[in-house]
Amino acid sequence: MNAIFDTLRRWPDVEAPGLVAVDAADRLILDESAERRASAQPGDVVVFNDAYGALTLGAAHAGASGVRTHIDALTGERALDANAARLCLTDRYRSAPLDDSLVSGARTVLLRLPRSLDALRDIAGLIAAHADPDVVVVAGGRLKHMSVSMNTVLREHFGRLDVTHARQKSRALIARAPHDGRDPSPAAAQVEGLEVRAYGGAFAGARLDIGTRLMLESLPDALPGGTPDDPLIDLACGTGIVGAWIATRHPGVHVHSCDQSAVAVASARATMRANGVQDRVAVVRDDMLGTRPSASASFIALNPPFHSAAAVTDLIAPRMFDDAARVLRPGGQLWCVWNSALRYRPLLERAVGDTEQVARNAKFTVTVSTRR
Ligand SMILES: C[S@@+](CC[C@H](N)C(=O)[O-])C[C@H]1O[C@@H](n2cnc3c(N)ncnc32)[C@H](O)[C@@H]1O
Repeated sequence: MNAIFDTLRRWPDVEAPGLVAVDAADRLILDESAERRASAQPGDVVVFNDAYGALTLGAAHAGASGVRTHIDALTGERALDANAARLCLTDRYRSAPLDDSLVSGARTVLLRLPRSLDALRDIAGLIAAHADPDVVVVAGGRLKHMSVSMNTVLREHFGRLDVTHARQKSRALIARAPHDGRDPSPAAAQVEGLEVRAYGGAFAGARLDIGTRLMLESLPDALPGGTPDDPLIDLACGTGIVGAWIATRHPGVHVHSCDQSAVAVASARATMRANGVQDRVAVVRDDMLGTRPSASASFIALNPPFHSAAAVTDLIAPRMFDDAARVLRPGGQLWCVWNSALRYRPLLERAVGDTEQVARNAKFTVTVSTRR
């Protein structure tokens, strides 16, 4: 098994010393599920929340076939495909959306515990609703990312929960006897006259992040662009709160909201429908602005991410600034909010062009950068 782990890469997600494609929690989940997988039939094994393919390909390498897998991040899904191609295992699995088609009839589920309890609740409910009644769920994570609340959430949908000993700062929770299954439905709230919808794990849930609020309150009354060919871009849209805010305050404008997270995209589509702006706001799952043409946009709004899988990193935002610079036409604007401690201004100047501070409070800075 170690030989396949050595070949796994995070690409096309950020790669840097200290950012790994497989860790001790992945190995523990595979070890704890090995006996169960040994007698699995094709289609029995389902994987949730793999980071870069360690669980899916570890199971496939050990003989599993017809594996169904769901990775929330598009970069993770693409890394899995690239890793599988290198290992000649592409015919052993298929990616599926987070719905009954992923989990129906599953007998062994390998689950990398998500950081968000709401995301775990959605996953646990979905498994309980559609997996085989005899299903065994092997859910693992790093101790630093686990809490006893995860046991409580799993007990909402499973009658039996066993907890393994810790190994290499990781632990697995083994859940059996599913009950009270339910399909995920988004949390709903009204924020500043907007309807917000959030499936478990979407950034900030059905709330307005305080950094995002500062950026939205700083936007001018008139925004450049907004036509079908030059839509206002809501990059890394999360629940779609920025796109919906803009679309509801500027009747008639067209907006393009995009995020690489499947849960974010589902949430943003639900947010747009709830505000009646779904005809003017396209919501797209994309790695940064991969589907947008170069030099085509007049306006991009961004609250950049600082997570890559479980790791906290400041390496993603600079990549987003570069892609925003590619997509902006000369004179186009990148509006950005960032934690003031991160000192993004020189990066924005270098990637995009002249950068002005528009607002600042105790924690956040809002800037507008004009494409040179
Ligand atoms: C700080 S949240 C901002 C969400 C939303 N705009 C808001 O202000 O509430 C950052 C978002 O970046 C997304 N993200 C991370 N990496 C990405 C990538 N490579 N391409 C597109 N979106 C990405 C995350 O899924 C997350 O929804």
